Amino acid sequence: MKTMEINKIVAGVICAVLLVIAVGKIGSMLVHPEELENPVYPFSEDIMAGNAEPAAAPAEPAGPEPILAMLASVDLAAGEKVFKKCASCHDAEKGGPNKTGPNLYGIVGNHFAHKDDFSYSSGMAEHGGSWGFEELNHFLYKPRDYIDGTKMSFGGLKKASDRAAVIAWLNSKSDTPLALPDPAATATENAEVPADGSDTAEGDEATAQ
Ligand code: HEC
Repeated sequence: MKTMEINKIVAGVICAVLLVIAVGKIGSMLVHPEELENPVYPFSEDIMAGNAEPAAAPAEPAGPEPILAMLASVDLAAGEKVFKKCASCHDAEKGGPNKTGPNLYGIVGNHFAHKDDFSYSSGMAEHGGSWGFEELNHFLYKPRDYIDGTKMSFGGLKKASDRAAVIAWLNSKSDTPLALPDPAATATENAEVPADGSDTAEGDEATAQ
């Protein structure tokens, strides 16, 4: 009698398990899961394609390329050449005159509107701050964008190498040139490049003083 009951219980459990398996099989025969061609959320398409901000991709670079890393390896003669574009309006010798634009001797590291005897636009006169390498990089890229209503009618230097060259050269036209940023990556190259570059810088200063 006892074993009969145990048999019934075991049979019942086996039936239950078979039923679960059978229902599962029938279920997957009736319903076929379909992979969606397109994800439900519209943004996920772009994320999956690797474009985090598809619409915001600018057609043009928003600002000037950075130049700090280029400064230390600039050939100062190239900077002097670029300055020819500025020389119709600017003198850069010590004690030299203001022309259409102010004399630029010692401009790097100096404050905005550094000449007391030059009549600046109000945008320039009221700007505040000083001409570090970054400020000059932005100003020379597009003067009118950087200083509202500037009197400097100059389109700008679009080539990063031109801006780096003329800024490094202007830095040498000073009683107290700023130390050029010396990125560790270019440290070994720098050992040779300034050898003749800094010679001319010192020569220029000597004649200027
Ligand atoms: C067409 C004439 C003209 C040319 C070309 C020109 N500038 Fe100027 N520059 C000016 C004038 C005018 C100002 C004064 C701007 C103001 O008051 O808004 C000025 C101002 C500046 C200043 C700020 C001076 C200060 O005291 O704060 C710098 C720096 C400068 N110029 C650099 C350059 C460089 C470098 C070039 C060549 C790549 C150049 N400029 C080409 C006319 C010129």
